[in-house]
Amino acid sequence: MSISIQFEPDGKQIEIKQGMTVLEAARKARISIRTRCDGKAGCLQCKVSIEADEGMMNFPTEAEQRKMGYFSTCGERLACQTRIIGSAHSKAIVHVPEDPLKAAVRKRLLEQQEEDRLW
Ligand code: FES
Repeated sequence: MSISIQFEPDGKQIEIKQGMTVLEAARKARISIRTRCDGKAGCLQCKVSIEADEGMMNFPTEAEQRKMGYFSTCGERLACQTRIIGSAHSKAIVHVPEDPLKAAVRKRLLEQQEEDRLW
């Protein structure tokens, strides 16, 4: 059974097996999500926001609830603690915070393209 995961802002989409964590899925898709604790719910570096049907992800683990508090009820999750348990053919969209340097480069490239278009 495969489940479709799309990572934004890159727009990469992959098929994963049920039970994989979002962090594992991101690594499979070669999407960079920061970590310091290597998936032990200790660093809060892997925060992502997820759009998915209800019941598609596990409930926040005890460690995640303790670390995230209020934010675990606002759609933000720890990628290392979030398992995709959806049914076949379901889809989730994971919004990964962009690295500030990468975001600045992307913004500058878009500005450059706009300037080039004017000439
Ligand atoms: S990797 Fe550290 S909290 Fe998820």
